[in-house]
Amino acid sequence: MSDSNFRKPVRKAVFPVAGLGTRFLPATKAIPKELLPVVDRPLIQYAVDEAREAGIEEFIFVTGRGKTAIVEHFDTAYELEATMTGRGKSLAPLDPTRIEPGNLVTVRQQVPMGLGHAVWCARAVTGDEPFAIFLPDELMYGSPGCMAQMIEAYNEVGGNLVSVLEVPMEEVSSYGVIAPGESKGNLTEVKGLVEKPKVDEAPSNKIVSGRYILQPEVMDLLASQGKGAGGEIQLTDSMAKLIDKQPFHAVTFNGRRFDCGSKIGFVEATLALALDREDMGAEVREMAKKMLG
Ligand code: UTP
Repeated sequence: MSDSNFRKPVRKAVFPVAGLGTRFLPATKAIPKELLPVVDRPLIQYAVDEAREAGIEEFIFVTGRGKTAIVEHFDTAYELEATMTGRGKSLAPLDPTRIEPGNLVTVRQQVPMGLGHAVWCARAVTGDEPFAIFLPDELMYGSPGCMAQMIEAYNEVGGNLVSVLEVPMEEVSSYGVIAPGESKGNLTEVKGLVEKPKVDEAPSNKIVSGRYILQPEVMDLLASQGKGAGGEIQLTDSMAKLIDKQPFHAVTFNGRRFDCGSKIGFVEATLALALDREDMGAEVREMAKKMLG
């Protein structure tokens, strides 16, 4: 395959949202984790806005049972619009980002067998194009957004890209970890990838953080991917097989990342974003100061 095939434009994005969110029970018993709001926007909306900023045109949600409300969040709310208009108010400034009619596609993952399996469920829609992946429970906060920074890198090197950040070594066992090669600016060559390694076996402290650009060949690898760490079909294991066959780089995100799949990360994101908001930052700061005595 010629190199030019690894540089097709990235138009499609996969949002795996079929997980059970067990770390956030009981909140996630009836409400999908991806709809939990950080201040006043649900997590999924931050991810979709980041995707749009990066030029993504087609949005593929991998959903499961009890996740339909995530898709409905992007519908036009006629009743709400009519009521607001009747009251002389406008819904527009409060309404979530619109997705062009026909550009939101859902596919089902009947059993949550792991992230790799969820991504594979989107294969008929991604087809022979490269695609981005967004894990909406990882809130990437910065400007330009994380995916926009990754697309800029993709335009330079093509191939496959993951976003990475450094964590204390003792935390690596919860994540996918890269074996880094040469670095230039925010780009690092990826020489190897391992999911949830033991601390003393981890190739670095650079963890993969919720954003990917992958070439379509990963779908064939996922089709025959066996269970990996935690008994789940891991995306990391199939991505690792692309290394040496196709260009593979990591982008260190210039911004902040919040792990909103964990309770502490969620509280941290809520506080950080509220403090940063023009309409409430000063008030929240005063409130926090008082609470901390
Ligand atoms: P997580 O492991 O963070 O989500 O997967 P989870 O399984 O829902 O959460 P916990 O660990 O039980 O609390 C990252 C993303 O991948 C999706 C999740 O919805 C989340 O957005 N996912 C995960 C799937 O769509 N399918 C799966 O089988 C697993």
